[in-house]
Amino acid sequence: MSGIDKYAVFGNPIKHSRSPKIHAAFAQQCEQKLQYRAVLVKKDGFEEAARRFFEAGGAGLNVTVPFKQEAFAFADRLSDRAARAGAANTLTLAEDGRIEGDNTDGIGLIRDMIANLGWVIQGLRVLVLGAGGAARGILEPLLREKPGELLIVNRTPDRARALVAQFSDIGPLEGGAFSLLADRSFDLVINATSAGLSGEMPDLPGTLLTERSCCYDLVYGAEPTAFMRWAAHHAAWAVADGLGMLVEQAAQSFYLWRHVRPETGPVIRQIREELAAS
Ligand code: ATR
Repeated sequence: MSGIDKYAVFGNPIKHSRSPKIHAAFAQQCEQKLQYRAVLVKKDGFEEAARRFFEAGGAGLNVTVPFKQEAFAFADRLSDRAARAGAANTLTLAEDGRIEGDNTDGIGLIRDMIANLGWVIQGLRVLVLGAGGAARGILEPLLREKPGELLIVNRTPDRARALVAQFSDIGPLEGGAFSLLADRSFDLVINATSAGLSGEMPDLPGTLLTERSCCYDLVYGAEPTAFMRWAAHHAAWAVADGLGMLVEQAAQSFYLWRHVRPETGPVIRQIREELAAS
C-alpha cells in the first residue's frame, strides 16, 4: 500500500462530478499529498463499496446522490448536524478505526452566502422551496443563523410539514403548500427543489420578491438555471447558483480530513471557468 492517503467521492451518476478537481486544487494549494477519485457505485452497492474502500486503507469519502442516507446509516458515529439531517456527505476514518459521518452541505451554503456573497441571514424573511434531501441538509445551519422567519413550501405539502415538525425547536419555522406564498414576499429565496434538473420551475407568484431580495439555487451549471432566470426577470437584487456551496462543502470536508482550511475563492473561479469552457 502506498503512503499517500486515499479519498474518493461515491455517487451514481458520478461522471460530471467536479469533486476530484476541487480536492486536487485544495491539495496543491495546501501542499498536501493525497489521492482523490470519483467512483461510480451501483445503486444497491453502497455499503459493500464503502466497506471495501475503508478496509483497503481509504482515509475519507465524500458521498453524493443517491447515497447520503446510506452513508448516514453506515457511519459508526455522527456529527449533530448529520444526525439531524438524516444524511451524511462526508465519512472519515477516525484514529480508533471507527467511521465518522458528517454533513457539510449546509455549512457550505452558509459560508458561500455570508463569506463569499456578503449576504445576511439574521433577521430576514427566508423561503426554502422544496422539502427533499437537499432542503433537509440545509435547514439546521440556516436556522442557526437566526432568520426572522423561515417558510418551507413543497409540491407535496406533507413533506414540508414533516420538516417543520423535525426542525422547529431550533427556530421560527412554518411549512406547507405553494399556496402559502400568495401575497407574501421574502428577503432570501433558496431553491432546493430538483425541478431545474429537468428544466422545470415551481410555479411562483411574481410578487414574491422585493428589490432587496436575494435568490440562491442549490443547483449549478454552465448556464443560469430556470429559477435564476426567473429571479433575474423579477428583478431580484442578487442571484447565485450552488457552485460556491459545492466548493465550500468540499473545503469543509478537506478541513475535517486534513485539518487545514483551503482558500476557496481561487477554486470557485477555476471551476467556473472550466464550466464556461465545457
Ligand atoms: P433532493 O435530494 O435533490 O432534494 P428529493 O429528495 O427527490 O431530491 O427531492 C426533490 C424535491 O424537489 C422535492 O421537494 C420535490 O417535491 P415533491 O416532494 O413534491 O416531490 C421537488 N420537485 C421536484 N420536481 C419539482 C417540480 N417540477 N416542481 C416543484 N417541485 C419539484
